[in-house]
Amino acid sequence: DWKMDAFVEHTIREIREKVGDGKVLLALSGGVDSSVAAGLLSRAIGKQLTCVFVDHGLLRKDEGDEVEGVFGPNGQFDLNFIRVNAQQRYYDKLAGVTEPEAKRKIIGEEFIRIFEEEAKKIGAVDFLAQGTIYPDVVESGLGGESAVIKSHHNVGGLPDFVDFKEIIEPLRDLFKDEVRKAGLELGIPERLVFRQPFPGPGLGIRIIGEVTAEKVRIVQDADFIYREEVDNAAAEYKKEHGEEPSWMPNQYFAALTNMRSVGVMGDFRTYDYAVALRAVKTIDFMTAESAEIPYAVLNKVMNRIINEVKGVNRVFYDLTSKPPGTIEFE
Ligand code: XMP
Repeated sequence: DWKMDAFVEHTIREIREKVGDGKVLLALSGGVDSSVAAGLLSRAIGKQLTCVFVDHGLLRKDEGDEVEGVFGPNGQFDLNFIRVNAQQRYYDKLAGVTEPEAKRKIIGEEFIRIFEEEAKKIGAVDFLAQGTIYPDVVESGLGGESAVIKSHHNVGGLPDFVDFKEIIEPLRDLFKDEVRKAGLELGIPERLVFRQPFPGPGLGIRIIGEVTAEKVRIVQDADFIYREEVDNAAAEYKKEHGEEPSWMPNQYFAALTNMRSVGVMGDFRTYDYAVALRAVKTIDFMTAESAEIPYAVLNKVMNRIINEVKGVNRVFYDLTSKPPGTIEFE
């Protein structure tokens, strides 16, 4: 894509001019936007860039290692990569907390504290980089709907707690599809560039009620199986028909209800958790409908989850639209 090629070249030049020999700090979440920002900055200024990646223990299965694989010392980018393994710290903070907004607040505040600690260790930075894209600029001006209904920790200001001279937002003029194109241009792996949306508070808002390491393990494993089977079924359909199936959801994931119920496994009575499968079709994520994933696919997912994920004895499919439901569970 020559236009993206031009954008990348042009932006790299701009970043170099602006930054000079200064130091840049970026909070890398592993999401599309911060990843592409990291790629661009790395190409422009190499080790003058430091990325802080906080693993809050609420990421999808193996995601922390994937991010480290791409941006860490054995990856393909020249930059300073700091991974903070804060899993236990988050689980401790979240112990006993059940109220959704309280959970979101703790997860957001803990992130700021950790980022601040890391920034202090690094010392004077000249620029704070952010993966802000054009829709964020517009939305924060108008006050996006979800921002009001649920507090988003990753939209609207990180900055004021780190000492820096200036902010740098290389993706500020791009729409999401352009950000993805730039990402591919930079050689960021497709599975990262085409990731589905994942909320800042992560699995913390897909585990109803108290978060524990055990519940995180359950939801990670169930979610992995679910995404794998949906992706396989979609790929098979595409191979056969040359196009995506009409049921292909825009977002799909497993959540852990806080409900346990009686079941039977072999000769034994069980009393285990119920997993909820969510899949939605949506254009703007403001309204959504439950996606009509084929029954055979759901059935296979159910069987695999029951057989492979310890602690689960029931699987539900969420049929609720948004509104009245939200896409996430908390
Ligand atoms: P809801 O649950 O409000 O979600 O219907 C709408 C879309 O927003 C995502 N979402 C978040 N994204 N930080 C984010 O970056 C958050 O706190 C957050 N909460 C929800 C959700 O995944 C869906 O795509």
